[in-house]
Amino acid sequence: MFNRDMEDLEQLNNIVEYIRQSRGLHVEDKEIARSLYHAAWPVNMIQKAFASLKKDPIIQVRELFKEYRLSEEVTVQAIDGLYYLDVYEGEFLSISGQSGSGKSTLLNILGLIDEPTRGDVIIKGVSTARMSDRQKTKHRLNTLSYVFQFFNLLENFTAEENIMFQVRMGGVSKREAKKKAKEILGFLGMESRAKNYPSELSGGQQQRIAIGRAIAKEAPLILADEPTAHLDTHNAEKVIELLRKVNVMFGRTVVLVTHEHSYAKMADRIVYLTDGKLSGIEDRAGASFDWKKFESEVKEEGSKETLSTDDSSVRDVLN
Ligand SMILES: Nc1ncnc2c1ncn2[C@@H]1O[C@H](COP(=O)(O)OP(=O)(O)OP(=O)(O)O)[C@@H](O)[C@H]1O
Ligand SMILES: [Mg+2]
Repeated sequence: MFNRDMEDLEQLNNIVEYIRQSRGLHVEDKEIARSLYHAAWPVNMIQKAFASLKKDPIIQVRELFKEYRLSEEVTVQAIDGLYYLDVYEGEFLSISGQSGSGKSTLLNILGLIDEPTRGDVIIKGVSTARMSDRQKTKHRLNTLSYVFQFFNLLENFTAEENIMFQVRMGGVSKREAKKKAKEILGFLGMESRAKNYPSELSGGQQQRIAIGRAIAKEAPLILADEPTAHLDTHNAEKVIELLRKVNVMFGRTVVLVTHEHSYAKMADRIVYLTDGKLSGIEDRAGASFDWKKFESEVKEEGSKETLSTDDSSVRDVLN
């Protein structure tokens, strides 16, 4: 059996991560925790394992300010001192706040579309304040994908070609690119619309193709600014779900700007901005899981169940 004394938090992390991946999208923390508990892991260890998952920062924001000068006398503090914010690798982070609170400004700075007046954004350990334009371009090409409000697809190319183009940009052969584009269209549930031009697709479908393009780019970070702003509720929900799916299945970090709370709360964490300042961070993963209640529930149930992911596959992860 596993060693539960010393280095086992790491083992436990691996198991939690493995179960999450092997069971797919909507597996609840509670279900994983219950399996672990029944396999005799102590609750405090399980809690620690969840708390320590996914904690490497991919983006570090430090002492950030962005001022827009409108005239000699008038300036706007769009970001007014965002002193410390980390985005963790693999997480789904929402940025929420009222109109004018600085959400787009922040996202554009994270995406190297705009420059701060002061402060730094460190991406994968590299300070962007010290980057040359060339290095920034390289980052935009290799690290970042964008999903915009207005889809921004190539109008004169089909859905399939829009995705293929992005795959080809990664230096992939035409044949391979076609195959890959087909796979991605399948993942998006858009195979039947492969040959349609953007103008022949609904807003929701166009946005799904835009997300397909982000998948094709294989950059670890997806930045999305109000991707549902021009969609009806049904399509908006589909797009958010799809982004979550990309986050989980492809391991991409997603930063989503939205003022819809029902979408923001799909994230692992919500960052709230007010007047260009950080006004709160809500940890949804923690919030959605009541450990005390969980412990009393499983104690009542007894420990008859066994770990439902088979031991041999768990062992594979550990070896
Ligand atoms: N290019 C610009 N020039 C001048 N002021 C700007 C510019 N871009 C943004 N601002 C100002 O900075 C502040 C923050 O704008 P930002 O677009 O980041 O807000 P937001 O939270 O994205 O709002 P919304 O929800 O309406 O999209 C606002 O007061 C805005 O007027
Ligand atoms: Mg905005």
